Amino acid sequence: MRIALLPGDGIGPEVAAAAARVLEEFAPELELEKHLFGGAAIHATGEPLPPETLAATREADAVLMGAVGAPEFDGAAVRPEQGLIRLRGELDVYANLRPARADGIDLLVVRELVGGLYYGARGVRDDGTVFDTMEYRPDQVERIARRGFELARARRGHVTSVDKANVLDTSRLWREVVVRVHAEYADIELEHMLVDNCGLQLVIAPERFDVILTENTFGDILSDVAVGKTGGLGLAASASLGDGRPGIFEPVHGSAPDIAGQGIANPAAMLRSAALMLAHGLDRPDEAARLEAAVDGALVDAPTPDLGGAASTSDFVEAVLAGIRP
Ligand code: NAI
Ligand code: MG
Repeated sequence: MRIALLPGDGIGPEVAAAAARVLEEFAPELELEKHLFGGAAIHATGEPLPPETLAATREADAVLMGAVGAPEFDGAAVRPEQGLIRLRGELDVYANLRPARADGIDLLVVRELVGGLYYGARGVRDDGTVFDTMEYRPDQVERIARRGFELARARRGHVTSVDKANVLDTSRLWREVVVRVHAEYADIELEHMLVDNCGLQLVIAPERFDVILTENTFGDILSDVAVGKTGGLGLAASASLGDGRPGIFEPVHGSAPDIAGQGIANPAAMLRSAALMLAHGLDRPDEAARLEAAVDGALVDAPTPDLGGAASTSDFVEAVLAGIRP
């Protein structure tokens, strides 16, 4: 099994090193290969996703990524984040999974990642009007709906499909396709919820959700609300999956330039992303569960400053390693 490790910028290399340290001991048969990505790649080659890196990700079994971005590139023509958007498109990872778990809450946002408002036609008219457009094809909705139901089957069997069907035509298509696909998943309970109400419910009653299935923009916003209810950016992991390998596994947070280089970044989000990689990218669910449990233990024993503790990144890693040793 070959893993393309893309450390990136800021705290990206710090949390990537933490993941490498844990995986080298926990799953030594995985081959981790580091590649240039983001601002680091712009400095070395002039582009954020060099051809060698793209080729390596295509040949890997999974892509494990730190974070990209740095203030020096704000407003520049070539920016680190362009590499990330391009890589997602190149690998066609249409299903973005964002678990959120903390006292009583255990939900999974399944977000469509390569369609909708962020990918539709955009432009400026002669009168100065600027527009973005939201479009969905039925097959784009169908594949993410299917993924959502499959994931619910391995959880508590409940799907909340979120849309704005009282206003948007794309949402009416969304609901129609979700209902049609649901006919093949009679064992799964399906409810529909309008996005504004879902935002409210996530704040006041997040424990009611199992799988939240939604389109790109709604999922972007709702998953951040869920992160806010479950411990913040230092803890939030994501998986982006296509229909074949490789998937992309990365923390939700960015490069955190304000704390980079201090050795205090919380590696929990990155280690949880590595656990998602074991579960969804490499078909090793038992090892994923063991790593998850060790991270949960380290959060109690060695919390980093973002959680009010005093542990360093490497203290946290040692606590995780202690938790997974037999
Ligand atoms: P950010 O997520 O990097 O940081 C937001 C705040 O959360 C900061 O105060 C940071 O110190 C804290 N934080 C984030 N992760 C942490 C961790 N693991 N441990 C402890 N504290 C943590 O978001 P921000 O500041 O908006 O963006 C910084 C750069 O990252 C920008 O260039 C942005 O474009 C990029 N970015 C990249 C992403 C990616 O690679 N997927 C995602 C989001 C932003
Ligand atoms: Mg976001």
